[in-house]
Amino acid sequence: MDLIFAPKRIALNGEIRVDGDKSISHRAVLFGALAEGVTEVRGFLTGEDTRHTAKIMTALGVQITEVSSDHLRIRGAGQAGLRAPLVDLDCGNAGTGMRLLAGVLAGQNFASTLIGDHSLSSRPMRRILAPLALMGARIEANPMQTAPLRITPVKQLNAIDYTTPIASAQVKSCVLLAGLYAEGVTTLREPEPTRDHSERMLQAFGVNVVRDGLAASILGGQRLSACAVSVPADPSSAAFFAVAAAISPGSNVLLTDVCINPRRTGIFACLSDMGAEISYENQRTLGAEPVADIRVRGGALRGIRVPEERVADMIDEFPIFFIAASVADGVSEVVGAEELRVKESDRIGAMVRGLASLGVHAEERPDGVRIEGAGGLIGKAALDSPACVIDSRGDHRIAMSFAIASLAARVPIKILDCANIATSFPGFTGICERLGMQIGR
Ligand code: S3P
Repeated sequence: MDLIFAPKRIALNGEIRVDGDKSISHRAVLFGALAEGVTEVRGFLTGEDTRHTAKIMTALGVQITEVSSDHLRIRGAGQAGLRAPLVDLDCGNAGTGMRLLAGVLAGQNFASTLIGDHSLSSRPMRRILAPLALMGARIEANPMQTAPLRITPVKQLNAIDYTTPIASAQVKSCVLLAGLYAEGVTTLREPEPTRDHSERMLQAFGVNVVRDGLAASILGGQRLSACAVSVPADPSSAAFFAVAAAISPGSNVLLTDVCINPRRTGIFACLSDMGAEISYENQRTLGAEPVADIRVRGGALRGIRVPEERVADMIDEFPIFFIAASVADGVSEVVGAEELRVKESDRIGAMVRGLASLGVHAEERPDGVRIEGAGGLIGKAALDSPACVIDSRGDHRIAMSFAIASLAARVPIKILDCANIATSFPGFTGICERLGMQIGR
């Protein structure tokens, strides 16, 4: 599905409630399925990614009822209650689904196979296969260490003390979940802090996770007991409209109920450093997570160098940050972000290519990018304004980033292959249209 976004220089106003958080929704359905009792999940993201995880838990014998579109009732099977699946387990486009499930399935007494779409089947799995092998798990992957992952049962997993070289919440969560099925205490040490939704939510389900600096430890055999989970709005989805407002002078938007877990807010810190007016209003907690309504006022932005220690805190927001940087005045630089190469697409390559088609000077580096901001509108002006064509490479965040770029573009932007927007943010185009953006289909 291709979409064409008309160039629109408009001020954005009003309140926006973006869809539920993807990371928290995956975990809610997974932990609810492993718990004893009934877990009610409200605010669930009904995107493709999280639907795949829910469908997999159903295939594993868990009863999940869709009370309404964003309210799931999960009758947990208990930690030892999952059933052998009759089919391969399809994670779709979701790295989080596959990596977290691999940790859970490694500890079951039945065989299973995790599969994914074309993009997921080329993403690196060695990062979880290595620690799981040390725990005694038997998982066979493709020679390139990619999915499908064929998991064979073993008698008992061993606890490990593992230091991962990659700052990844998916690796951390995978090892901690496998640790639930291991004998003894499993410890995961990470090089930098990453999102801690698993640790927070496991505590809410009654599991003791001991955290000490960059280490998290879990004692095997602990049981999860059902609880109510309220999923806040996804800061990664909110980021698109935060940038939309920031690059549109005269804008004033309020993004409501957004998760402001400090490991997710790097993009808002960057926008503030660039000169946008950002404020957290009505700060409160929702279940295990801090939330706020985020007000963003638009204005002139200036380029920045993203502090390297902030990279993990905005790992999913670089595509939309690159759009802000392209519109800003001056140079922006990102280093230490090589993980962008192995996301749903190579996000450095995909963005630099797309920005070049819009006439933005962006220099690709192995671990980041240098962008010369246009200090205003982007896109080459042409008399008859032919649309600038962008290949999203089937990556939801690339597609949404270039959609937002239309607010500062001189030409229409045609984005190829936008169906995957529904993996993380099915409400995206509806919000764009409500704000006054014009979309051709
Ligand atoms: C996620 C962790 C991040 C992020 C992904 C969701 C999670 O991946 O990019 O969208 O829910 O744990 P990595 O752990 O690979 O950095």
